[in-house]
Amino acid sequence: MTGQAQYPNTRLRRGRAAAWSRAMLRENFLTSADLIWPLFVTDGEGIEQPIASLPGVSRWSVDGIVERAGEAIALGIPCIALFPNTQADRRSADGAEALNPDNLMCRAIRAVKAAHGDAIGILTDVALDPYTSHGQDGLIDDKGYVLNDETVAMLVDQAVNQAEAGADIIAPSDMMDGRIGAIRRALEMGGHHNVQIMSYAAKYASAFYGPFRDAVGSGGLLKGDKKSYQMDPANGDEALREVAMDIAEGADSVMVKPGMPYLDIVARVSGHFNIPVFAYQVSGEYAMIEAAAAAGAGDRDAMILESLTAFKRAGASGILTYHAAHAARLLAQ
Ligand code: PBG
Repeated sequence: MTGQAQYPNTRLRRGRAAAWSRAMLRENFLTSADLIWPLFVTDGEGIEQPIASLPGVSRWSVDGIVERAGEAIALGIPCIALFPNTQADRRSADGAEALNPDNLMCRAIRAVKAAHGDAIGILTDVALDPYTSHGQDGLIDDKGYVLNDETVAMLVDQAVNQAEAGADIIAPSDMMDGRIGAIRRALEMGGHHNVQIMSYAAKYASAFYGPFRDAVGSGGLLKGDKKSYQMDPANGDEALREVAMDIAEGADSVMVKPGMPYLDIVARVSGHFNIPVFAYQVSGEYAMIEAAAAAGAGDRDAMILESLTAFKRAGASGILTYHAAHAARLLAQ
């Protein structure tokens, strides 16, 4: 009679004791089909430019982007996201290069489609920051304030330009009000009925975008911040209003960005709405993991897979991550 009453009836550790049991009880799974691979495009041919603040990530000329797309297909990654490093002499106050049917983005889209057809999806970012001489995502007034409706008119034309080049998913990342509805209408009128819109619905004015701005070359140009259009990191309820608005305007899927510090937002959005939710593990998060691994603070591969699985647990349908190809390789092992 030695203390049977002290035995717990429930031992959750029973289920964790053996690998077969852990496998049987696992609730969430990461697969390569969950991943979207962001890629940076630069001008020229045969060019790979490493990005210092994103160790392991490079800008590629269009031929290299076509190769990376082939790599993604082989790894089971369903979609790539393209971002241009626009030539300096093609940036202007109004970002007009965004509307050029032969800009870097459109050339990359056409080349990937010519080489790979529908074997892979192409997601394209809609916002003016890779094209403006001031680094803001839209048109600014003389005080530097980003004008909403004037910017939306540009974004509509930018989106149609990308769709005409062959983009599969238009992803507005600008956070202007009303742009999803305006872009949807223009896509329909242009006959692009099957071009999807993945809205960066809850995009925060984050300190984690630094390396991305280096990658597209807008960082050095940007004066001030993006707080008058991107969301306050302190806000959660407002994210639900943003998502509701974009769904009402015709978004096919929505995104939360950044990722890891905003898993609560991913969980709330996926709990409230019946629509696919994607999370963007942004450049600063990638850099953080790489820096931690380089400093010996953790196992790189394990940190990568754990962080990506956590997005699935939070309710994400998929994740944009610069680790996509590496993670897919790990998952294939
Ligand atoms: C452009 C855009 C940004 C990112 C994606 N699209 C930067 C910004 O808003 O300043 C950030 C992605 C990343 O940091 O990986 N509107």
